[in-house]
Amino acid sequence: MSRIAYVNGRYLPHANAAVSIEDRGFQFADAVYEVCEIRDGEVIDPGLHLDRLERSLRELRIRMPMSRTALLVVMRQTAKRNRVRNGGVYVQVSRGEAHRDHAFPDASVPPTVVMTAKPHDRAKAEAQAEKGIAVITVPDNRWERVDIKSVGLLPNCLAKQAAKEAGAKEAWFVDGTGLVTEGSSTNAWIVTRDGALVTRSAEFGILRGITRTVLLEVAKRLGLRVEERSFTVAEAKAAKEAFITAATTLVMPVVSIDGTAIGNGHPGETALALRRAFHGSTERVPL
Ligand code: PDD
Repeated sequence: MSRIAYVNGRYLPHANAAVSIEDRGFQFADAVYEVCEIRDGEVIDPGLHLDRLERSLRELRIRMPMSRTALLVVMRQTAKRNRVRNGGVYVQVSRGEAHRDHAFPDASVPPTVVMTAKPHDRAKAEAQAEKGIAVITVPDNRWERVDIKSVGLLPNCLAKQAAKEAGAKEAWFVDGTGLVTEGSSTNAWIVTRDGALVTRSAEFGILRGITRTVLLEVAKRLGLRVEERSFTVAEAKAAKEAFITAATTLVMPVVSIDGTAIGNGHPGETALALRRAFHGSTERVPL
């Protein structure tokens, strides 16, 4: 079965799915995106992802291409037409197609909307979570507006590639003062020796992950002590546990940072408990 993409009103096989070479997403990374988890044939937390999409668009003054309801219909259709029961749906909205000029085109230019969906192997993801992952640290060389979920991800790609070449699965960005900001495509968390769950405040320097937002609620429900504050690489290395979160990884235990084992070098029980509890607090919409 060929994969199907949604492009500006049409569902097309990937081989025929295309946008213009003058699309501003291609020319300038003038586009934003979202990735939603699909689990057991349901979209997870579409409301929160659409809230963030609307915010990213507003911050860049790109207009909403269609209503939230219509976007959700297309997301569900795209997942359905690709027979994705477990995986993710990708939504991208660019400022549209216009002759190459850095300044914005006329407001009448319609945004470009592309959606794709792909399945993932749940069993493989669970096996990975049982083992945990290694992370490396890299300097955070991104622009300041990382709160906008823009497709301008070159530093993130370079960081992820550096992790891969080091035999790790994720890279944590570290700011100029030695504080961890977030992963190349995930948020970063630790559990301190005295049991506090720590993740950086989302006011500045990171993307406000939807998985992060929901997990903070889960943690409170489980009675965990939560501290939204920054932490250093040294504090992370000395922590009892560490983990990452994203719609793609869910809660994924981290067992080493730059080669230093975290805790006993195995996934921590808090991370695994949060992973198990996560979907108890999510919004779910059937495909
Ligand atoms: N990435 N931080 C960054 C830089 C991200 O790119 C992501 C998500 C997150 C976690 O956000 P959420 O919990 O809403 O998935 C944090 C997506 C999955 C990606 O780029 O594929």
